[in-house]
Amino acid sequence: MKLKVGVLQFNPVYKNPERNYQVIENYLSEARDCLIVLPELCTTGYLFEDKSELFDLAETIPNGKFVEILSNLSKRNNLLIVAGIAEKYNEELYNSAVVISPSGFVGKYRKINLFYKEKFVFSPGNLIETFDIEFCGQSFKLGVMICFDWFFPEVSRVLRLKGAKIIAHPANLVLPYCPLAMPIRALENKLYTITANRIGHEQSDKDQLTFIGQSVICSPKAEYLLKLSDKQEGLFTIDIDLEKIDNQITKFNNLDDDLSFLREVLCMSSM
Ligand code: ACM
Repeated sequence: MKLKVGVLQFNPVYKNPERNYQVIENYLSEARDCLIVLPELCTTGYLFEDKSELFDLAETIPNGKFVEILSNLSKRNNLLIVAGIAEKYNEELYNSAVVISPSGFVGKYRKINLFYKEKFVFSPGNLIETFDIEFCGQSFKLGVMICFDWFFPEVSRVLRLKGAKIIAHPANLVLPYCPLAMPIRALENKLYTITANRIGHEQSDKDQLTFIGQSVICSPKAEYLLKLSDKQEGLFTIDIDLEKIDNQITKFNNLDDDLSFLREVLCMSSM
């Protein structure tokens, strides 16, 4: 059975959440019956020098305005949405992603591996978990990781050990390596990966960054099912088949059997 999945690749307006809400609403209004992944920090932009610069633009989860907007869109158009957002929690900021289904807020993930100046702004997350999803007649476990988490194979491996069939991966990539690595993250874990990156350029008082686009959707056979350029903007969708995930490498190698030792090492009894 097919599942429609996609990415929204766009250029968030720096420090302007209201404008970004409008852009996101316009694009997602076109979508129906689809799992859509949006980039990291897609309401605020990315390049912040310290916590105070971002604090007033960050939102609480699940009671903030962006979760409300996404929940309405999700319900109206039957969408499962994963989107990156700056989360405010007491005095801390987290680089988070929310998961929203037509029945409401499902959960959030807080980025563990902070990149570059994010270390001056955010506290790291400490939890890797999967979300139980019922969507478009299918049941599956969804994993979420954020941008630089790709560089640490442990994150996708733990998601796999916890049963993920799809990893949603909001990103703000600036280095060229991730689009090359994602087919391997998908292959070594036998799942689908959906990396939604942003495009454009940002300048702070002290620094500047250019984002590489190239959002990719990868199959468990290390294929690119979708690969965008560094300039394309918009909502792009394809169909995947979750039943086609095959754990066999050869007839003697079943990934689940071969990973069983890791479950013991990591004390993961419930997978
Ligand atoms: C990144 O983690 N935003 C490169």
